[in-house]
Amino acid sequence: MKDDTALDRLQSLAPLGETFGATRVEAQARRTFVRELFDQVAPRYDLMNDLMSFGLHRLWKQAAVAAAAATPGAATGTIVDLAGGTGDLSLALRKRLPQARIVLADASPGMVAVAEARAQGKIECKVAEGEHMPFETASVDAVMLSFGLRNMTDPPAAIREVFRVLKPGGRLVLLEFSKPAAWFAPLYNIFSRFVIPALGALVSGNRGAYRYLVDSIRLFPDAQSITRELTAAGFDRVTLRRFVFGVAALHVAEIAE
Ligand SMILES: C[S@@+](CC[C@H](N)C(=O)[O-])C[C@H]1O[C@@H](n2cnc3c(N)ncnc32)[C@H](O)[C@@H]1O
Repeated sequence: MKDDTALDRLQSLAPLGETFGATRVEAQARRTFVRELFDQVAPRYDLMNDLMSFGLHRLWKQAAVAAAAATPGAATGTIVDLAGGTGDLSLALRKRLPQARIVLADASPGMVAVAEARAQGKIECKVAEGEHMPFETASVDAVMLSFGLRNMTDPPAAIREVFRVLKPGGRLVLLEFSKPAAWFAPLYNIFSRFVIPALGALVSGNRGAYRYLVDSIRLFPDAQSITRELTAAGFDRVTLRRFVFGVAALHVAEIAE
């Protein structure tokens, strides 16, 4: 059952809303910085994802899309790709569910413009924020949120909104970076501290954006905390699947019927 107090708290996520990478900032400044960052990297965003993850993000996203497609009612229902970026999940979902209403919602006009050009009308695209979603209460079958929660201005508010818009039996499919296993962490830390910002500088001309990425991943809670807090907040049957020794994690959280 929904627990508003636990939804309000989502303790491990709340501190993210006061940071921009390693720097403490006001919420409004965070909102502006994050939006400008994604507007700026949008043209090279997909290429950078392939380079940084050696293409593995495609497999992780396929698993997320499969989980969303398997939601009861999704085949002819409404699925929101929140923080949908350049639209790769939405377009993969369209191939699986030709009849569904698929809506990509993202705060960055630059990212939405890339998605729109790529989608050519196959999905709906909206500039919208996770904290105030333009959907009726209990009107959505599934929300996919892939590598987006970490970037929200107010991550607990976004989860509250997801809870509001989902129908009974609906699903949140949450894909995020996580904490790798202890033995793998030193190697991963070297890669993320040195290689990712250097790649970012080379490919997108923006070292700062990719330093933000690495810092925001470091601040993001581990997968068990996310599972615990989603369960405490009232989501039912929260499942967890880890990828590459815990580098990324896929949560599927259902709303009780
Ligand atoms: C790392 S990208 C993820 C894009 C895509 N979902 C993927 O998996 O590749 C994060 C996205 O979150 C979006 N974003 C940031 N803050 C947001 C907010 N408050 N509401 C909606 N989208 C937001 C950004 O504009 C960006 O497109």
